[in-house]
Amino acid sequence: MTDVTQDKVFSTDKPLRQAAEATDLPIGAAVNMAALAGEAVYTETLSREFSACVAENAFKPSEVWTGPREYDFSETDRLADFAGQHGMLLRGHTLVWHQQTPRWVAREGQSIPEGDLRGLLRDYIHAIVGRYKGRIAHWDVVNEAISDPGEDGSAPVLREESIWHRALGPDYLRQAFEWAHEADPAARLYYNDYEIEATGPKSDAVYALLQRLIADGVPIHGIGFQGHLLNGWRAGETHRENIRRFVDMGLEWAITEADIRMQLDGADPTDEQLATQAAGYEDLTRLCLTEPNCRGLIFWGFTDAHSWIPGFRKGWGAALPFDESYRPKPAYRAIQAALATGAE
Ligand code: XIL
Repeated sequence: MTDVTQDKVFSTDKPLRQAAEATDLPIGAAVNMAALAGEAVYTETLSREFSACVAENAFKPSEVWTGPREYDFSETDRLADFAGQHGMLLRGHTLVWHQQTPRWVAREGQSIPEGDLRGLLRDYIHAIVGRYKGRIAHWDVVNEAISDPGEDGSAPVLREESIWHRALGPDYLRQAFEWAHEADPAARLYYNDYEIEATGPKSDAVYALLQRLIADGVPIHGIGFQGHLLNGWRAGETHRENIRRFVDMGLEWAITEADIRMQLDGADPTDEQLATQAAGYEDLTRLCLTEPNCRGLIFWGFTDAHSWIPGFRKGWGAALPFDESYRPKPAYRAIQAALATGAE
């Protein structure tokens, strides 16, 4: 099939969501709401290629939680409607995170009595999870609560810079999952983090945290491996081993924010860089298809025209399966081919 949209031409013999049908693996992308509103080719590619989506920013507390008990659901409704119209599984990202907290929390949070702040967080979680009850399949309830390993080799700990941790103490983790579960008992509730794809000190710390929560009966069902990777990344035994230990705890899992960035320093990607990237994406796809309990392969965007990488990692880019003109890259073909082989 060849589509001509605006001045862009791209060919997709078998859209990813179609290639993934026989495998049951939801394949998705993070959505930039401005592009969704303003670019036909963006919207068309997204709905044609993907069976799942998540908001890149629109569902974050900084966007929705406008005042102590004030919420703005206009953009979140727009995405939920879009996902519903196109039969896409919707992920909610995210309820508690140390970044992108509401401005009023950053401003006044420290002066609000602890009990009041706890009640406000509970009401927020009840409001947003309740509003999308039955429509959001997975929630990233807690994002990035564990710190990076220290440069001096010290082990990762619960992040001290989190306002929630500082103001409410570590118990907020358990409560966030419980409140989300009260609001939508059928939603699958995830802990989500970066650089925990392989075994290592940070993954060990997340493992220990989830083990404690599960032993305490906290309703947590899944672990999200963000998957912000560097070009040259390949899956190995250390990834399989890591995934399996979480699965052995009874958890499902997903790759929630995949991208594979390359160093460009203003140049175009070389064929070799693109081939290396394709191999990484193929490995990621095969991991999802061959390890048990994978419930999604989600990219952090889908086109290099809208990717957080150039803005956040100077000199790096070209991290996604479509290029800036919405042409499928070798990575796209590799994902498609891996999906076609299914769980072989
Ligand atoms: C990023 C978005 O892509 C940016 O647009 C925003 O300015 C900052 O956040 N881990 C996460 C995501 O869990 O929410 C982050 O998204 C990327 C890293």
